Amino acid sequence: MTTHKPAAQVVRDAAAGRPPRVGIVLGSGLADIAGFIEQSIAIPYEDLPGFPVTTVEGHTGKLVIGDWAGTRVACMQGRFHVYEGHDPTDLALPIRTLGECGCDILLLTCAAGSLQQSMPPGSLVMLSDHINWSGVSPLAGPNDNSIGPRFVDLNRAYDPELRALLHQSAREISVALHDGIYIWCLGPNFETPAEIRAFRTLGADIVGMSTVPECLVARHWGMRVAAISVITNFAAGMQEELFHEETLAAGAGATPRLGRLIESFLSRLNTADSS
Ligand code: HPA
Repeated sequence: MTTHKPAAQVVRDAAAGRPPRVGIVLGSGLADIAGFIEQSIAIPYEDLPGFPVTTVEGHTGKLVIGDWAGTRVACMQGRFHVYEGHDPTDLALPIRTLGECGCDILLLTCAAGSLQQSMPPGSLVMLSDHINWSGVSPLAGPNDNSIGPRFVDLNRAYDPELRALLHQSAREISVALHDGIYIWCLGPNFETPAEIRAFRTLGADIVGMSTVPECLVARHWGMRVAAISVITNFAAGMQEELFHEETLAAGAGATPRLGRLIESFLSRLNTADSS
């Protein structure tokens, strides 16, 4: 098993004695959110031993370390997907790197399709729970007991306190924030209308090709997780045709709003910590 420790050492060296506390993963079309980070240092993934290579348009491939709303953050500008051909277990190393260098909170962002008319494109939806429809897990294979348990409890996969803070933050800055259940499909194809109808019956509100593996690795590590999707389209059968370009454009459109929400959340996190 390739270890995350050399990559964590590179991050610690770059962080100059002020290690990150919150890890952030930016989804498709959301890379510009890293522009909110001040005093930032960007480390290309090639310089982080063991990091896979991103191949998807809209995923930059840098780890940005810096200050945001009084919080030290490490932000993955670009993520890895199983549909790119990565082994699911390869997705663990970047998240463990964040954990090893001091992140005890992980904020995931992603693009998603909506199964609900009440959550149209442009909406922000916070994950209340997920369904893993992929049939794979990044935690399969030998377990390193020094990292986490073999069998991970997922009763509170998305941390209730962090979710409450995000709702408070959204109210404070007058940004609408829905709650929804995310279903992880492997991709890279979009779903069929029949699959979407079935997923709605199963209880899913939104659908995407990411986020769940990172949540699983983070919960295994013991990090607290929150996740927010930007709705980029109605799911298959609810609109005519689906395009990745649409995902990138909707992500760009939501960047200022999601950036302000994260900023407000991080400043509350700071306040919550110091009280
Ligand atoms: N399906 C899966 N993943 C997605 C979608 C979708 O409709 N939109 C953005 N990511």
